[in-house]
Amino acid sequence: TLATASLAFAQTYPIKPVTWIVPFAAGGPTDALARSIAERVARELGQPIIIDNSPGAGGTVGTAKAARATPDGYTMLVGHMGYMGAAPALYKKLAYDPVKDFEPVFRFPDTPLVLMVRKEHPAKDIQGLIDFGKKNPDKLFISNAGVGSSSHLIAALVASSAGIKVTLVPYKGAGPALVDVIGGQVDGMFDQTNTALPQITETKVRALAVTSKVRLPQLKDVPTLAETVLPGFEASTWYGIYAPKGTPKAALDKVQQAYLKVMTDKAFTGKMSEQAIQLLPPEQYTGAALGKHTEAEVLRWRVVAAKTNISLD
Ligand code: MLT
Repeated sequence: TLATASLAFAQTYPIKPVTWIVPFAAGGPTDALARSIAERVARELGQPIIIDNSPGAGGTVGTAKAARATPDGYTMLVGHMGYMGAAPALYKKLAYDPVKDFEPVFRFPDTPLVLMVRKEHPAKDIQGLIDFGKKNPDKLFISNAGVGSSSHLIAALVASSAGIKVTLVPYKGAGPALVDVIGGQVDGMFDQTNTALPQITETKVRALAVTSKVRLPQLKDVPTLAETVLPGFEASTWYGIYAPKGTPKAALDKVQQAYLKVMTDKAFTGKMSEQAIQLLPPEQYTGAALGKHTEAEVLRWRVVAAKTNISLD
């Protein structure tokens, strides 16, 4: 009967590898954070978690693919603030609804972002960059991971709040976007700390500001946007694992429990803190908390997008 089948499922899931869709190219912060968490959650589940990088359109292509996946517990999405929070306000024809088409499973810790410029750029600090942007409208080329990615959203927000016009250059992920800042093909970008920190040396890129409320221990001499040009400004990328609507609750619970256990491992979470990843109170990691957060963020970004007219297509 159905009852025995669902009991059998609950007792045996997962019986094969689980796929997590990362809707950006490999090598970016979402990919890096997802892989580090997947590796540990897989150990708890007793099955590999395979990362499927499906980039495009700021993460909305891979997200639409996840929304259409078979809801059997073997395909989930690595979601984040951009394509699961802001996208409904940015894309008129979005192929999914972040709330209606998904079940929230658990939330990752957050990552603040660092504004980095190519080492030869004349701007020596954030004020110098804004002055340059004011004198040279559209001549600041800022790379990002596509419309609706957090590197795009934060750049658009900061440019709009600072009253400058920049040229946003989209890539398939922040990984490739950062390569071109290091190579000097573009002038700068906002990248999450877990991938930005290792690149921040005089020889590669120069960090001008961070989006966190207070300075980061790893970048003591890099000011926050709030203390310099945008009083009160604070932003970080939030993430979470979502399953397509209809996925059996037993699968959601098992994956969530595995993660909550992993996040009690101080050695693991300590390594995250070293990357300036912002750990959250444990109750904020649950699927229920992620579901509430997603709904609140979809509403918040409608207001933000309307105020700063960063809606796009
Ligand atoms: C972004 O929002 O910019 C993404 O996190 C980029 C990425 O992870 O590749």
